[in-house]
Amino acid sequence: MESMTFVLFGATGDLAKRKIYPALYNLYLDGKLPSTFSIIGLGRRELRDDAFQSQVEQSLNQFSRRSVIQSPDLNTFLSAFRYHPLNVTHPDDYRKLLHLVQSRENELNIRGNRLFYLSVSPEFFDVIALQIKESGLGDTEGWKRLIIEKPFGRDLQSARLLNAKLNEAFEENEIYRIDHYLGKTMVQNLETLVLANPVIQAVWNNRHIANVQITASETVGVEERAGYYDRAGAIRDMMQNHMLQVLMMTAMHLPSQITPSHIKDEKRKIIKALQPVHKSEAALSVVRGQYASGSVNGNAVAGYLQEPGIEASSRNDTFVAARLWIDDPKWEGVPFYIRTGKRMSEKSTRIVVEFKNPTKELYVTRNAITSPNLLVIEISPNERVSLQFNGKNAENDGNIESLELSFKADQNKQPEAYERLIHDALEGDATFFAHWNEVELSWQWVQPILEAFEENLIRLHAYEAGSNGPEASDQLLEEDGFEWWLDP
Ligand code: BG6
Repeated sequence: MESMTFVLFGATGDLAKRKIYPALYNLYLDGKLPSTFSIIGLGRRELRDDAFQSQVEQSLNQFSRRSVIQSPDLNTFLSAFRYHPLNVTHPDDYRKLLHLVQSRENELNIRGNRLFYLSVSPEFFDVIALQIKESGLGDTEGWKRLIIEKPFGRDLQSARLLNAKLNEAFEENEIYRIDHYLGKTMVQNLETLVLANPVIQAVWNNRHIANVQITASETVGVEERAGYYDRAGAIRDMMQNHMLQVLMMTAMHLPSQITPSHIKDEKRKIIKALQPVHKSEAALSVVRGQYASGSVNGNAVAGYLQEPGIEASSRNDTFVAARLWIDDPKWEGVPFYIRTGKRMSEKSTRIVVEFKNPTKELYVTRNAITSPNLLVIEISPNERVSLQFNGKNAENDGNIESLELSFKADQNKQPEAYERLIHDALEGDATFFAHWNEVELSWQWVQPILEAFEENLIRLHAYEAGSNGPEASDQLLEEDGFEWWLDP
């Protein structure tokens, strides 16, 4: 891997401490960083290099998946870090930054490859990108890349505007939009699981699949993020990005080759083929909810409106479920259900593929009804794939029952999503990043629903904290003769 400079905006922030430093450290331990690298952290306040390095060390102690041992290796890793105070709107600060970047490049003999990571509030994304261009930081002999965190806009129009501004400073193939769901083991595995297994490929269509359910339920509430979350809601926070990305990965067709651009094309075809939801009819296929008080894991918790920082009149959604159709011969007639919510009964992100069950009645004479085959892909907290099928259990008088084949990944040996994604960006592999087309088409699909929410065309259901969301979300599936598979 080529030597490079990693320029981190937001170096004293929470994400840097929890995710980015531990990811860099673990990549370093695995020999997945270039042999020469320079890391420059930027933040508003003044900080000496040694104080910054010890902050990084503390964050490793607290958040690294591997324990940190005092070693010459650790010291070499930390010695790559420098700190530079920067006000994101001051051109002069960027010129000084350029000077620092160049002097470290000369000192370490780095060939001008620069990765700019924006771990800052979204209102600064475009400002920073343009300053990178204007200060000359972006004029380099090597490659330049931009990693940008979510949210990418807050609706279709603002996303387009942001993208146009970023494009003034970076080409699309230089922009790496993080969607950390795309870095998760099982989401990355989807591609192989579905594409590289003829047995699964053969049944991955509307002849065999009855419906697909994608759930991301959380037990946490709004936490300390009221300011952001109350303006975003579950629809912007999870649905527009993570959920639709997982849907694209699940539904995409077999590409002719496994390359980033072929996969990107296949994903785009799916998001493009999503049947639009019209604002006036959104209530027929979308359910929105807000958690009321209740009990989660045995602890009493407050309702959303009682959370610190939330106005008692807030109509923000903390739960969304939707039924989607893909206009494509392979998926015609197969509903895709997605739902996500906070303060639900369990933390679980999973895909359940329910197969058609033409032999349901076959064993009726023996008082048995066969269950549909289910392929369950658990994304978190467990990373597991299981197939439920019918069989005779000899220990149970040979009665028909549901049996399970399963594979579970060993989580202790798994790199974290951020490790994978940062590594891919360093390698220049954009497969598991959100491309502009996908982001734009996702906003396009979500836009009428956002408007329907704003205009109160869709009822906001209260649901008890610790439940599985509003009953209306169960009814959404019942209308089609299905039910959510909770813990199959
Ligand atoms: C983030 C959202 O993108 O994803 C959070 O902003 C949410 O609100 C989180 O809690 C969920 O991620 P994970 O990895 O815990 O499923």
